[in-house]
Amino acid sequence: MCLNLLKREIVKEKVKIGIIGCGGMGGYHLNRMSFCGLFDVIGILDKDPAVKKKADFRRIPFFAPEDLEKFFALPGLQAVLIATPNDVHKEYAVAAANHGLAVLCEKPVTMSCADLQEMLDAAEKNGTLFSVHQNRRWDHDFLCMKKIAESGMIGHVYKIESKVVGSNGIPGAWRKVKSQGGGMIYDWGVHLMDQILLFKQDTPVTSVKCVTSYVYQEEVDDGFELEITFGDGTFVTITIDTNSFVKVPRWMIYGMDGTAVIDTFNSKKGKVIAVKSRYDAKLKGVQAGNGFTKTMADRSKGTIKVSRLPKITDDGLDLYRNFCKCVLEKTPEKSIITGKQLMRVMKLIELSFESAEKNEVIKTNF
Ligand SMILES: NC(=O)c1ccc[n+]([C@@H]2O[C@H](COP(=O)([O-])OP(=O)(O)OC[C@H]3O[C@@H](n4cnc5c(N)ncnc54)[C@H](O)[C@@H]3O)[C@@H](O)[C@H]2O)c1
Repeated sequence: MCLNLLKREIVKEKVKIGIIGCGGMGGYHLNRMSFCGLFDVIGILDKDPAVKKKADFRRIPFFAPEDLEKFFALPGLQAVLIATPNDVHKEYAVAAANHGLAVLCEKPVTMSCADLQEMLDAAEKNGTLFSVHQNRRWDHDFLCMKKIAESGMIGHVYKIESKVVGSNGIPGAWRKVKSQGGGMIYDWGVHLMDQILLFKQDTPVTSVKCVTSYVYQEEVDDGFELEITFGDGTFVTITIDTNSFVKVPRWMIYGMDGTAVIDTFNSKKGKVIAVKSRYDAKLKGVQAGNGFTKTMADRSKGTIKVSRLPKITDDGLDLYRNFCKCVLEKTPEKSIITGKQLMRVMKLIELSFESAEKNEVIKTNF
């Protein structure tokens, strides 16, 4: 949600937080955290000295990485936000936990299950909060898809297509570097996988097939097609493409009794079509290319009901609210982003890379 649409919260106590890595996303958090009323940003640490200007502008002390101990010793510091490139999330998260600080880490939390385990262990050992900015759990299109699927509007959902496409390649420098966690699986993929696994929390993934694309360069994937099958038979396709000059619907949801389409991120465009009468007495065959079909012909209007998408009114601040509550009440176990959820996503990421590399369907159960 845009800053000017955010309401400022009035709270008794703000969380004193320091930002590690204040580039694009760190700057976004700096603005939101300063504006939303839940945080006091009391320090910024970045390896790029040019970032000091951002800190100076807001009269916030600036630190270089070699001053990490001084940064951690900021009076009253309770938490850190980590928004560095992906390969250095772990070292800062572990160090912060060892200093008794809560951590809000950018996604992808890190680059392997083994690294994630180390981060979770450090938080557990120190009794500190560890949360991850999986902000797209509150995207209106996702909440709308979930609402449609769970409402029964289109009956039992057996197939979902989740797609994000653009034509601008991979932005920035480190996102093109494999060792820094570049590529689209780690970038957009982690969001779309997290959404799907959240929707199917109690149903195991039973197979994974992934094909990656390398349109712009060979080092990291700039797009991928991932097929996930769940234990209840639900089949999901996740598509990311950074070289598509035509937009496609963000979501297609197929139910036994209807189909829903959500065109865009904000869920204002799209529709739900539910079947009223399965039998269509007026169904006529139509010319289709060089053939004739009844199977694929449009239904007559009286047999279906077309509805608007359900309304979603979330302000996108629940993750910040939950983080602050857990910090102030010292209840890390109440984080809405759990270690179990994060590990499941990381496992899916690892299996996606494995499947793409071997060009194989991976049978699994997690
Ligand atoms: N949740 C989201 O929607 C979302 C969106 C964009 C980016 N991100 C994530 O945010 C993180 C940062 O991405 P970005 O787009 O802001 O990148 P960026 O390159 O714009 O910013 C990264 C910042 O980290 C600093 N940095 C790099 N190495 C460092 C180190 N060792 N110590 C201290 N500072 C260091 C850089 O100087 C830079 O200022 C990534 O993990 C990315 O995946 C999340």
